[in-house]
Amino acid sequence: MTTEELTAASFYRRIGGGPALQLAVSEFYDLVLADEELKESFATTDMVQLKKHQAALLTSVLGGPSAYEGRDMVDAHTGLDITERQFLLVRDYLVSVLWKLHVPVDIIEAVNSTVMSLQGSIVTA
Ligand code: HEM
Repeated sequence: MTTEELTAASFYRRIGGGPALQLAVSEFYDLVLADEELKESFATTDMVQLKKHQAALLTSVLGGPSAYEGRDMVDAHTGLDITERQFLLVRDYLVSVLWKLHVPVDIIEAVNSTVMSLQGSIVTA
């Protein structure tokens, strides 16, 4: 195991593992779906499936046990015409939920960097 993987694994444990992650994902989507600028994009999405995938993605970003098996980020967001503003709004909601759950700041920074590295795959408008 590399140093990077060890650090990631401890991230996952430090935030409280699966249950804490489920809570974060659930609160995150409540915020996203309450936002007029975002909710349209999710009008035809199966939210149960989406939350499951998003939880798996966050788990793997944080070094947890289950590897992400959903579509890649380009495929998942193709055709949605997502703007940079929408992308940053979603990023802000994610960070604010982690902040509210008292996730340590170094973990929030790591999640933010990973999310920002996905901008080119997600923003198409
Ligand atoms: C900010 C970083 C983002 C990440 C990490 C992310 C991650 C994901 C993941 C993991 C999935 C599930 C893929 C699958 O089902 O296999 C997904 C799907 C989806 N995302 Fe994102 N997403 C982001 C931003 C956005 C934004 C800004 C929007 C729209 C405003 C958006 C709209 C959607 C929609 C509508 C789907 C479901 C597509 C469908 O109906 O199948 N995402 N995203």
